[in-house]
Amino acid sequence: MQIIKSISEFNKARNTLIGSIGFIPTMGALHEGHLSLIKTAKSSCQNTIASIFVNPKQFAPNEDFNSYPRMLDQDINKLRSLNIDILFIPSEDEIYNKNSPDIIYDNYMFDILEGKSRPGFFNGICIVVAKLFDIVKPTDAFFGEKDFQQLRIIEKMSSDLNYNINIIPCKIIREINGLAMSSRNKHLSSSEAEKSKIIFNTLELGFTMIKNDTKVVEDIYDILNKKLKQDSVIKLDYLKVVDYNSLIEFSDFVSDNFAICVAGYINQVRLIDNITYLYSEDSSI
Ligand code: PAJ
Repeated sequence: MQIIKSISEFNKARNTLIGSIGFIPTMGALHEGHLSLIKTAKSSCQNTIASIFVNPKQFAPNEDFNSYPRMLDQDINKLRSLNIDILFIPSEDEIYNKNSPDIIYDNYMFDILEGKSRPGFFNGICIVVAKLFDIVKPTDAFFGEKDFQQLRIIEKMSSDLNYNINIIPCKIIREINGLAMSSRNKHLSSSEAEKSKIIFNTLELGFTMIKNDTKVVEDIYDILNKKLKQDSVIKLDYLKVVDYNSLIEFSDFVSDNFAICVAGYINQVRLIDNITYLYSEDSSI
C-alpha cells in the first residue's frame, strides 16, 4: 500500500494504474462500516484507493471538527491488512490551498433532513467530494447507505456535473445491538451505546408497520415518536418518512418505495440512521 500525501505524488502513482479504480473517501477512525466499503471495492475493481481527510468545510463552527476522532496509525494498519493500492491522506492546505473558488453546486436536497439541521453541511461535502473525484479520477466510488442523504446527493451531483463515475451504494453495517456503526460512536459510554439500540428498534417497527399496510403517515409518526421517547435517552432531532428516491417527505400516505430517516443526540453525540425499502429489492436492514 502506497501512502501518499501530495497531489503531485498522487498524480504520478495514479498514472501507472491500469484498469478500473474503486475509490472510498472517508474521514478516518475506520470501523467495520468503512472496511465493508473497501472490501466491496476490492472485490469489484482492479485497483482500490481510499482517502482519509477530515473535511473542515462540512463542520459548522459549533460542531465537532476539533473533537472528531483521529486515529491515523490504527487506520493505516487496518488498510494495510486489506492490501489496498493507495491511501491518500492530503493535508488541509493540499486540498484547499490555492484560494481557488469552491465549486458552485446546489441541490434541493441540501436543505432537507440533515441539511435543515446542519446548514452548509452538504455544500461542504460536495466541495470536497468533487475535489477528490477530480484528483483521484475513479471509475467507481463507494458510499454507505448509513448516510443515505449523502449517497443520494453524491449520485445527483455526479450525474449533474457529468462525472463518469459509477456510484456504488453499500449496505449499513451495524453493531450486534443494531446501532449503525459510526466513528462518533467512540464518544458513547457503554451504557449509552446499549440504550442507543432504541433507534434501530424504532426503525424496524416503522418498517414492519408500513409493510403490514399502515400507510397513514400520521399514525406511523405517532407510534414511532412514542417509542423513541420511551426512556428519553435520545434527544430527537427529526424522524421522517420520505420517498426513497427524492427524499421528499410523504404528506398523507406512504408509497411503495420509502426511507425512514432519523437523527438525534445521545449526550451531545449526533447519531443518524435509516431503514429503506425499494420495491422489487430486499430492504436495506
Ligand atoms: P465518513 O463518515 O468517514 O464515512 C465514509 C464512508 O463510510 C461514507 O460513504 C459512509 O456512508 C460510510 N459508512 C460510515 N458508516 C457506515 C456503516 N455503519 N455502514 C456502511 N457504511 C458506512 O461520509 C463521510 O465520511 C464524509 O462525508 C466524506 C464522504 C468522506 C466527505 O468528507
